[in-house]
Amino acid sequence: MSSFVSSTGGIPSVGDVPRHIAIIMDGNGRWAKKRFLPRVAGHTRGVETVREMVKACLARGVSFLTLFAFSSENWRRPEGEVSFLMQLFVKALKQEVKRLHANGVRLRVVGDLSRFDPALQEMIALAEAETAANERLTLTVCANYGGRWDILQAANRLAAAEPAKVGAWTEHDLAPYLAMSYAPEPDLFIRTGGEQRVSNFLLWQLAYSELHFTDVLWPEFDCSALDEAIASYRRRERRFGRTSEQLQASPPSSPHA
Ligand code: IPE
Ligand code: IPE
Ligand code: MG
Repeated sequence: MSSFVSSTGGIPSVGDVPRHIAIIMDGNGRWAKKRFLPRVAGHTRGVETVREMVKACLARGVSFLTLFAFSSENWRRPEGEVSFLMQLFVKALKQEVKRLHANGVRLRVVGDLSRFDPALQEMIALAEAETAANERLTLTVCANYGGRWDILQAANRLAAAEPAKVGAWTEHDLAPYLAMSYAPEPDLFIRTGGEQRVSNFLLWQLAYSELHFTDVLWPEFDCSALDEAIASYRRRERRFGRTSEQLQASPPSSPHA
């Protein structure tokens, strides 16, 4: 069903460019407020940062970029802001898909899409189909996504597929049903905007990701801020439960080795 099925599978050793970067793009509202602009102006400006980060990841050889665009909890925001975000999503899809495709980017949108307008669902399906064969970078946009939703939908689908095995499921059984089973787990997690929390992002998949928090607001996040995060990642020793001495004696080829 998937090539990345284990809970901490396929994570490369330290020193490499992260294969998968996952970002909570936070701070749009505060960026706008600082400039006496309406909050939504920050979201519009944030799309430019997305464009810049896709370019930067392509240039750095990152294979997977995952962006948290709208959480399961963001429906709690004022109605005007929610509908602005939906329109912005539609506009960005219309404007960007051709460019993504031309650059070899495969687009995936994950989350509970059933709550979106049918026209938006259709646009997403078309954009995914158009870019499906691209291999340079997989850009995943998490929309109406929640880590708890993901684990539950995976458990429910597994229960339907393998009812006889109830009570004996392992991580390896569940992982293929997670929304992002096509990707290795994030090596590097970045949250902009100063908050130090996960806000129901990829709860399962972040088990062994390296975490990087920055005060930089998303509309101001740029290549040098990204490089700072990658440099910090490269200085770390990823042990996956082992001791430092074990790693120095024989660096594992995979976390399960
Ligand atoms: C993140 O920026 C974007 C979304 C959640 C859609 P915010 O809108 O949360 O910005 P702040 O945190 O209020 O500054
Ligand atoms: C997390 O940001 C969700 C996205 C970036 C899409 P929020 O700004 O909604 O997170 P909380 O509510 O402050 O934790
Ligand atoms: Mg926020």
